[in-house]
Amino acid sequence: MSAAPDPVKLMKQQVGKAAAQRVNSNSIVGLGTGSTTAFAIQYLGERLQSGDLNNIKGIPTSFQASVLAKLHGIPLTTLDEVDRIHIAIDGADEVDPHKNLIKGGGAAHTREKVVDSLAEQFIVVVDQSKLVETLGSTFPVPVEVLPMAITPVMRALESLGGQPELRMGVKKDGPVITDQGNMVIDTKFGAIADPVALEKTLNNIPGVLENGIFVGVADLILIGELQNGEPFIREL
Ligand code: A5P
Repeated sequence: MSAAPDPVKLMKQQVGKAAAQRVNSNSIVGLGTGSTTAFAIQYLGERLQSGDLNNIKGIPTSFQASVLAKLHGIPLTTLDEVDRIHIAIDGADEVDPHKNLIKGGGAAHTREKVVDSLAEQFIVVVDQSKLVETLGSTFPVPVEVLPMAITPVMRALESLGGQPELRMGVKKDGPVITDQGNMVIDTKFGAIADPVALEKTLNNIPGVLENGIFVGVADLILIGELQNGEPFIREL
């Protein structure tokens, strides 16, 4: 007897596919990071192989995105070689009603912010569990930090009212090391009243490279939902 399909996986697959459908031929595509975007990358590859899509180049936001792009036959380029990104597809850990995001659950938010901010259209792909009324309600803010500055940055985050925790590896002893060779401090602030101010304040701490608050970057949120057990895509 085959197991029932995992409903969260089903939502992620459908929303990834819906985003990949919005990519046009002859475009530069920002390739996000995470389990939902992985499905978008897979479907982009399938569209290329079938001839439904032609001449796209991807700008990866992480080592994961570049490995997946190669696996699915998507040619890659860099920001040094292109003068625009037509569209970017990326996941999120929290989405508020103003399309503001918390990202960085996969420690890729620094490169993601560069690529997603440059895109002429930035599409966010999430399942319904990611929607919140106020950012910070369920997810800590990931802060990427130079390793030599970990201790003073932790203190600064505490003095801002946060509860910082160095992110530790899974199946790897010691801290998570980002694709740039830095570390991540996950910081709980609770519900964030002013995400615009907090994003700036965090990035002003010496030693901080970037934090996971994305304000005013997303153009469209595609939300995977289940209605009567069937996957359904809603737009925000
Ligand atoms: C990567 O650092 C993150 O910003 C991801 O985009 C985010 O964590 C969403 O990932 P999932 O699609 O796996 O939930």
